[in-house]
Amino acid sequence: MRALVDDDDSFPSTPGKTKIIDRGGSHHHRHRHSLVFPRHLLWTLLFLAFLASYLSLRSFLHTSSRYLSSSFATLSFDNRVRASAEPTRPDGLVVLVTGAAGFVGSHASLALAKRGDGIVGLDNFNSYYDPSLKKARRSLLSSQGIFVIEGDINDAKLLKRLFDLVSFTHVLHLAAQAGVRYAIQNPDSYVHSNVAGLVTLLEACKNANPQPAVVWASSSSVYGLNDEVPFSEVHRTDQPASLYAATKKTGEAITHVYNHIYGLSITGLRFFTVYGPWGRPDMAYFSFTRNILQKKPITVYRGKDHVDLARDFTYIDDIVKGCVAALDTAEKSTGIGGIKMGPAQYRIYNLGNTSPVTVPTLVSILENYLKVKAKKHVIEMPGNGDVPFTHANITLARVELGYKPKTNLEEGLKKFVKWYLSYYGYSSRKGRNW
Ligand SMILES: NC(=O)c1ccc[n+]([C@@H]2O[C@H](COP(=O)([O-])OP(=O)(O)OC[C@H]3O[C@@H](n4cnc5c(N)ncnc54)[C@H](O)[C@@H]3O)[C@@H](O)[C@H]2O)c1
Repeated sequence: MRALVDDDDSFPSTPGKTKIIDRGGSHHHRHRHSLVFPRHLLWTLLFLAFLASYLSLRSFLHTSSRYLSSSFATLSFDNRVRASAEPTRPDGLVVLVTGAAGFVGSHASLALAKRGDGIVGLDNFNSYYDPSLKKARRSLLSSQGIFVIEGDINDAKLLKRLFDLVSFTHVLHLAAQAGVRYAIQNPDSYVHSNVAGLVTLLEACKNANPQPAVVWASSSSVYGLNDEVPFSEVHRTDQPASLYAATKKTGEAITHVYNHIYGLSITGLRFFTVYGPWGRPDMAYFSFTRNILQKKPITVYRGKDHVDLARDFTYIDDIVKGCVAALDTAEKSTGIGGIKMGPAQYRIYNLGNTSPVTVPTLVSILENYLKVKAKKHVIEMPGNGDVPFTHANITLARVELGYKPKTNLEEGLKKFVKWYLSYYGYSSRKGRNW
């Protein structure tokens, strides 16, 4: 085998080229020694026969080695997926986490892996915000043995391959185009990820055997113009104030269809303004921190009649506990071969903190930790999709999931600021390009 490979080097890489050179050589020989023609013809024929068989052997080896190396590549991808999906505790869950390189997805994946569940992550690493932060989260996950595949939830072939490789018990679907204001700039991205992508993912779940139970992130934004407080799951959600909210509400309707027709077990979680270490740079607490450190002004919106905006800020660890509880209490899907065999669970829960804090209070907590006074630019909230306040009623989640948020905004922001300074360093005071 080795000798063959060495010999290969003396041959041109395309067989056709060898033939041309050889034909020229034989022709020249025939003219010079026409008297010994029959004997030479015999040798020439023998030589050509040898050459032909050698070339076909070489071409066979070349093709099979390509085949072998491509199956090794396939094998290593498949093996990585299988290894990552393997739980390390008895009866551990096997979870496909979409949006695993995102803020909530990375935290949830780590928490699940820590208790011994098998996790496979999927994320398209889009550039809605700095992809290097997503890559850093992926490295963190990788250090814990979690494989995050770079791929899109709209890729039906990839999803099929993953479901063929692994019998996922659950899907924690967190991939989405997040953010309210960005919809003015790029509305298609919301339809791509939050509507089309969701349908592609649910199709894969429906066709999988066994079907996984699906837990996914909706949003408090579905309450839109509802002004009954605190927001309860029974309140109306048919008045969205942004395209983001409309796609999340659409997601609730779409998941209901897959529950109703195909027997998928569905749990929708309406998160309320999640914050914490490894958070999202597009969110106010994050961009305020950056600007305050860089001594740049921050824009603080105010509602009508000078009313301060307020949010039910929820610390990441509390949200993760809610996600894990939702996975643990999810019943199995009932469909087989894409056909519903009986009624399946359909649930929706608020996951908030139940204690809204005004934006000026958020700023003063940050000023205190950063030891820098913010340059506030206070303006009336433009009509770009933001709502004046959010406030969660979490009774249902408390009763059915045992959900009990523990971290208040002061404690949570302290942890965030500590992480921020260690991740970006104090050099962010001079400005950083992200
Ligand atoms: N953070 C919050 O305050 C909050 C509030 C309410 C709801 N949510 C929802 O929670 C989920 C997680 O939010 P987050 O704050 O972690 O956001 P995030 O943007 O940090 O995470 C989402 C991840 O999904 C990935 N993604 C987007 N489209 C994708 C696609 N088509 N295919 C594959 N990957 C894709 C992104 O690259 C990103 O890493 C989202 O569904 C979001 O809408 C978040």
